[in-house]
Amino acid sequence: MFTTDEGARRYQEILVPLMFAPSARELVADANLAHGARVLDVATGTGVVARVAAEAIGSTGHVTALDVSDTMLAIARSQPASSGAAPIEYIQSAIEDAALASGIFHAAFCQQALQFFDEPARALASIRKALRPEGRLHVALWGSEEEHSLTVAMQRALLECGLREFTAFLTKVHRLHNPALVNGILRQGGFVVERQEAVDIVPDGTWHASDGRRLLAATPLAAKLAALPAEKRAVLGDACERQLDNFTKDGALDLCFPAHFYIARPA
Ligand SMILES: C[S@@+](CC[C@H](N)C(=O)[O-])C[C@H]1O[C@@H](n2cnc3c(N)ncnc32)[C@H](O)[C@@H]1O
Repeated sequence: MFTTDEGARRYQEILVPLMFAPSARELVADANLAHGARVLDVATGTGVVARVAAEAIGSTGHVTALDVSDTMLAIARSQPASSGAAPIEYIQSAIEDAALASGIFHAAFCQQALQFFDEPARALASIRKALRPEGRLHVALWGSEEEHSLTVAMQRALLECGLREFTAFLTKVHRLHNPALVNGILRQGGFVVERQEAVDIVPDGTWHASDGRRLLAATPLAAKLAALPAEKRAVLGDACERQLDNFTKDGALDLCFPAHFYIARPA
């Protein structure tokens, strides 16, 4: 997915402030973590949830942050630690194959990753084994494609440019937007949902339609787009900016990212 150094760097610079950092703050606040807790961040990416959790649990706590991608982990490791935050240990592994100690974590997080797991039941079984019996799993998943103006704009731009096959990635991002489906997947993985809520994630900073090219380039589509002829790329960039302009209000993009948060306990 984010397998190149450039892809991981753009993810951290653009997508993290746009959507993943504001979501991480809400998800971790929702978890009400105790000081000194042991936390697992599954599919940590560039580590935003791990860092927010490390601040919440303080220096006596401990965070284990795992991801399959070494390029994402390289960025995570390079981020500065806040003073007074718990240490973060990074592990490169697919969650399905992770050799984690059993029954030690008070909380596990999985922000915007369950939709990408090839074997969600195996992944969830691995998380369940690592959690303490009273531990909780906190999952964040985006709402539907139609609810996300950025996805709508990118899809329309790709379709306008005859690049329908490129829209498959966006569909995958939103694949688990349905709470009934997610409840079923969690159940199959040995979890019971205790609480679920719909949340609207508001971006950090101000974004404009003219950011369209940067935003496209920060998605895992970047490698495919880079392989297009320069002229086609320019037309797509223009189309994306034009489509985004439909969501401009008072001179800036009016973006909000509906999501669902789930708190689940081992069954
Ligand atoms: C959209 S990113 C989310 C990253 C992070 N949770 C965040 O909120 O910024 C999805 C991440 O899932 C990771 N991933 C996908 N499949 C995985 C697996 N089976 N095991 C571990 N990590 C995985 C990818 O490498 C990527 O970093």
